[in-house]
Amino acid sequence: MHNSTLFFRDGDPFWTLRDQVIPELSKRRNRILQIWSAGCSTGQEAYSLAMMTESHPALRDWKVTIHASDLEEPVLRQAEVGSYTASEVRWIPEPLLNRYFVRRGANFTAGPDVRRGVKFSMFDLSGQWPDSPQMDVIFARNVLIYVKNQEKVIQRIREKLAPDGYLFVGLGPLASPQLEDFWEGFSPRFSPKSCCFVRDDFPGSSEGRNS
Ligand SMILES: C[S@@+](CC[C@H](N)C(=O)[O-])C[C@H]1O[C@@H](n2cnc3c(N)ncnc32)[C@H](O)[C@@H]1O
Repeated sequence: MHNSTLFFRDGDPFWTLRDQVIPELSKRRNRILQIWSAGCSTGQEAYSLAMMTESHPALRDWKVTIHASDLEEPVLRQAEVGSYTASEVRWIPEPLLNRYFVRRGANFTAGPDVRRGVKFSMFDLSGQWPDSPQMDVIFARNVLIYVKNQEKVIQRIREKLAPDGYLFVGLGPLASPQLEDFWEGFSPRFSPKSCCFVRDDFPGSSEGRNS
Protein backbone atom coordinates (compact mmCIF):
# COMPACT_ATOMS: atom_id res chain seq x y z
CA MET A 1 0.00 0.00 0.00
CA HIS A 2 1.80 3.11 -1.17
CA ASN A 3 -0.03 5.43 1.28
CA SER A 4 0.34 3.22 4.34
CA THR A 5 1.69 4.98 7.38
CA LEU A 6 1.60 4.91 11.18
CA PHE A 7 2.00 7.30 14.07
CA PHE A 8 5.62 7.12 15.35
CA ARG A 9 6.46 4.63 12.60
CA ASP A 10 9.50 2.48 13.58
CA GLY A 11 9.83 4.41 16.86
CA ASP A 12 13.59 5.08 16.89
CA PRO A 13 13.66 8.00 14.40
CA PHE A 14 11.20 9.90 16.61
CA TRP A 15 13.00 9.10 19.89
CA THR A 16 16.28 10.14 18.23
CA LEU A 17 14.67 13.41 17.18
CA ARG A 18 13.51 14.01 20.75
CA ASP A 19 16.61 12.82 22.63
CA GLN A 20 19.50 13.75 20.30
CA VAL A 21 18.52 16.05 17.47
CA ILE A 22 16.39 18.62 19.29
CA PRO A 23 18.89 19.05 22.15
CA GLU A 24 21.68 19.61 19.57
CA LEU A 25 19.67 21.90 17.31
CA SER A 26 18.19 23.96 20.13
CA LYS A 27 21.75 25.05 21.02
CA ARG A 28 22.43 26.22 17.45
CA ARG A 29 19.10 27.84 16.51
CA ASN A 30 17.35 30.90 17.84
CA ARG A 31 13.76 29.93 18.68
CA ILE A 32 12.80 28.97 15.12
CA LEU A 33 12.80 25.43 13.72
CA GLN A 34 11.73 24.25 10.28
CA ILE A 35 10.86 20.58 9.81
CA TRP A 36 9.66 18.91 6.61
CA SER A 37 7.65 15.71 6.34
CA ALA A 38 8.08 14.86 2.65
CA GLY A 39 5.48 12.29 1.55
CA CYS A 40 3.33 12.74 4.65
CA SER A 41 0.39 10.61 3.44
CA THR A 42 -2.62 10.95 5.80
CA GLY A 43 -0.71 13.04 8.34
CA GLN A 44 0.39 10.59 11.03
CA GLU A 45 4.10 11.42 10.54
CA ALA A 46 3.47 15.18 10.65
CA TYR A 47 1.36 15.00 13.81
CA SER A 48 3.92 12.67 15.43
CA LEU A 49 6.59 15.30 14.73
CA ALA A 50 4.30 18.00 16.12
CA MET A 51 3.74 16.01 19.33
CA MET A 52 7.51 15.51 19.75
CA THR A 53 8.29 19.20 19.32
CA GLU A 54 5.26 20.67 21.13
CA SER A 55 5.96 18.60 24.25
CA HIS A 56 9.74 19.17 24.21
CA PRO A 57 11.08 21.22 27.15
CA ALA A 58 13.97 22.62 25.06
CA LEU A 59 11.49 24.14 22.59
CA ARG A 60 9.21 26.00 24.99
CA ASP A 61 8.16 29.31 23.32
CA TRP A 62 9.84 28.35 20.04
CA LYS A 63 8.15 28.72 16.68
CA VAL A 64 8.29 25.25 15.15
CA THR A 65 6.80 24.71 11.70
CA ILE A 66 6.13 21.24 10.33
CA HIS A 67 5.83 21.54 6.54
CA ALA A 68 3.99 18.40 5.46
CA SER A 69 3.64 17.62 1.77
CA ASP A 70 2.39 14.85 -0.46
CA LEU A 71 1.71 14.28 -4.13
CA GLU A 72 -1.88 13.10 -3.65
CA GLU A 73 -4.71 15.46 -2.81
CA PRO A 74 -7.09 12.89 -1.18
CA VAL A 75 -4.53 11.87 1.45
CA LEU A 76 -3.74 15.53 2.14
CA ARG A 77 -7.43 16.28 2.71
CA GLN A 78 -7.58 13.40 5.20
CA ALA A 79 -4.42 14.71 6.87
CA GLU A 80 -6.00 18.14 7.27
CA VAL A 81 -9.14 16.64 8.82
CA GLY A 82 -6.82 14.81 11.24
CA SER A 83 -9.37 12.27 12.42
CA TYR A 84 -8.21 8.73 13.16
CA THR A 85 -9.70 5.45 14.36
CA ALA A 86 -8.81 3.83 17.68
CA SER A 87 -6.73 1.30 15.76
CA GLU A 88 -4.79 4.07 13.98
CA VAL A 89 -3.96 5.91 17.22
CA ARG A 90 -2.79 2.77 19.04
CA TRP A 91 0.88 3.67 18.48
CA ILE A 92 0.55 7.06 20.17
CA PRO A 93 1.85 6.88 23.77
CA GLU A 94 -1.19 7.34 26.00
CA PRO A 95 -0.07 10.59 27.69
CA LEU A 96 0.41 12.20 24.25
CA LEU A 97 -2.91 10.85 22.97
CA ASN A 98 -4.75 12.27 26.00
CA ARG A 99 -2.96 15.60 25.72
CA TYR A 100 -3.19 16.25 21.97
CA PHE A 101 -6.26 14.39 20.64
CA VAL A 102 -9.94 14.92 21.23
CA ARG A 103 -12.26 11.90 21.27
CA ARG A 104 -15.28 12.30 18.96
CA GLY A 105 -17.44 9.15 19.03
CA ALA A 106 -15.26 6.29 17.88
CA ASN A 107 -12.58 8.58 16.44
CA PHE A 108 -9.74 10.69 17.76
CA THR A 109 -9.16 14.12 16.21
CA ALA A 110 -5.95 16.14 16.37
CA GLY A 111 -6.51 19.09 18.72
CA PRO A 112 -5.36 22.70 18.33
CA ASP A 113 -1.99 22.34 20.12
CA VAL A 114 -0.81 19.68 17.72
CA ARG A 115 -2.25 21.31 14.60
CA ARG A 116 -0.94 24.81 15.17
CA GLY A 117 2.49 24.39 13.60
CA VAL A 118 1.54 21.90 10.87
CA LYS A 119 1.09 23.18 7.31
CA PHE A 120 -0.04 20.74 4.64
CA SER A 121 0.60 21.32 0.94
CA MET A 122 0.69 19.43 -2.32
CA PHE A 123 4.18 18.85 -3.70
CA ASP A 124 5.60 16.35 -6.20
CA LEU A 125 9.17 15.49 -5.23
CA SER A 126 9.83 14.50 -8.85
CA GLY A 127 8.53 17.84 -10.20
CA GLN A 128 9.80 21.43 -10.10
CA TRP A 129 11.28 22.56 -6.79
CA PRO A 130 10.52 26.19 -5.93
CA ASP A 131 13.10 28.29 -4.09
CA SER A 132 12.34 28.06 -0.38
CA PRO A 133 14.33 28.16 2.85
CA GLN A 134 16.48 25.24 3.95
CA MET A 135 15.09 22.84 6.54
CA ASP A 136 16.59 21.94 9.90
CA VAL A 137 15.12 18.44 9.84
CA ILE A 138 13.75 16.45 6.91
CA PHE A 139 11.74 13.26 7.25
CA ALA A 140 11.75 11.58 3.81
CA ARG A 141 10.69 8.19 5.07
CA ASN A 142 9.23 5.42 2.92
CA VAL A 143 8.76 7.79 0.00
CA LEU A 144 12.02 7.67 -1.99
CA ILE A 145 11.13 4.23 -3.37
CA TYR A 146 8.13 5.80 -5.16
CA VAL A 147 9.75 8.84 -6.79
CA LYS A 148 10.92 9.19 -10.39
CA ASN A 149 14.51 10.45 -10.93
CA GLN A 150 15.51 9.14 -7.54
CA GLU A 151 19.11 10.40 -7.62
CA LYS A 152 18.05 13.90 -8.62
CA VAL A 153 15.41 13.98 -5.86
CA ILE A 154 18.00 12.88 -3.29
CA GLN A 155 20.36 15.61 -4.51
CA ARG A 156 17.56 18.19 -4.15
CA ILE A 157 16.81 16.95 -0.65
CA ARG A 158 20.49 17.40 0.19
CA GLU A 159 20.38 21.01 -1.05
CA LYS A 160 17.17 21.65 0.90
CA LEU A 161 18.75 20.39 4.14
CA ALA A 162 20.65 22.99 6.17
CA PRO A 163 24.37 22.07 6.33
CA ASP A 164 23.95 21.30 10.04
CA GLY A 165 20.49 19.70 9.59
CA TYR A 166 19.32 16.10 9.93
CA LEU A 167 17.74 13.77 7.38
CA PHE A 168 15.66 10.76 8.37
CA VAL A 169 14.93 8.10 5.77
CA GLY A 170 13.02 4.81 5.92
CA LEU A 171 14.63 1.45 6.53
CA GLY A 172 14.51 0.59 2.79
CA PRO A 173 17.21 2.97 1.47
CA LEU A 174 19.67 1.74 4.09
CA ALA A 175 19.77 -1.62 2.37
CA SER A 176 19.58 -0.40 -1.21
CA PRO A 177 22.82 -0.70 -3.22
CA GLN A 178 21.28 1.41 -6.05
CA LEU A 179 21.42 4.42 -3.75
CA GLU A 180 25.23 4.49 -3.47
CA ASP A 181 25.43 8.03 -4.86
CA PHE A 182 23.05 9.15 -2.15
CA TRP A 183 25.46 8.00 0.56
CA GLU A 184 28.30 9.95 -1.10
CA GLY A 185 26.69 13.19 0.04
CA PHE A 186 25.64 12.06 3.51
CA SER A 187 27.01 10.28 6.56
CA PRO A 188 25.12 8.24 9.13
CA ARG A 189 24.64 9.82 12.52
CA PHE A 190 23.53 8.17 15.78
CA SER A 191 22.52 4.49 15.83
CA PRO A 192 21.66 2.67 12.58
CA LYS A 193 18.09 2.15 13.85
CA SER A 194 17.55 5.92 13.90
CA CYS A 195 17.96 6.01 10.08
CA CYS A 196 19.39 9.50 10.58
CA PHE A 197 21.92 11.12 8.24
CA VAL A 198 23.76 14.42 8.06
CA ARG A 199 25.45 16.13 5.12
CA ASP A 200 29.15 15.46 4.55
CA ASP A 201 29.85 19.11 5.30
CA PHE A 202 28.10 18.88 8.69
CA PRO A 203 30.15 21.05 11.09
CA GLY A 204 32.78 18.99 12.93
CA SER A 205 31.93 16.04 10.70
CA SER A 206 35.27 14.28 11.18
CA GLU A 207 34.69 13.88 14.92
CA GLY A 208 32.71 11.05 16.53
CA ARG A 209 29.96 10.94 13.91
CA ASN A 210 28.33 7.80 15.29
CA SER A 211 28.52 8.80 18.92
C1 LIG B 1 4.20 4.84 2.23
S1 LIG B 1 3.70 6.52 2.39
C2 LIG B 1 4.86 7.06 3.64
C3 LIG B 1 4.25 8.01 4.60
C4 LIG B 1 5.19 8.44 5.74
N1 LIG B 1 6.30 9.19 5.23
C5 LIG B 1 5.67 7.25 6.54
O1 LIG B 1 6.87 6.94 6.52
O2 LIG B 1 4.84 6.61 7.20
C6 LIG B 1 4.39 7.27 0.91
C7 LIG B 1 3.74 8.57 0.52
O3 LIG B 1 4.57 9.19 -0.47
C8 LIG B 1 3.75 9.85 -1.40
N2 LIG B 1 4.48 10.04 -2.66
C9 LIG B 1 4.78 9.13 -3.60
N3 LIG B 1 5.44 9.70 -4.62
C10 LIG B 1 5.59 11.01 -4.31
C11 LIG B 1 6.19 12.13 -4.96
N4 LIG B 1 6.76 12.01 -6.17
N5 LIG B 1 6.13 13.33 -4.35
C12 LIG B 1 5.55 13.46 -3.13
N6 LIG B 1 4.97 12.44 -2.45
C13 LIG B 1 4.98 11.22 -3.04
C14 LIG B 1 2.54 8.94 -1.54
O4 LIG B 1 1.41 9.65 -2.04
C15 LIG B 1 2.37 8.42 -0.12
O5 LIG B 1 1.40 9.15 0.58
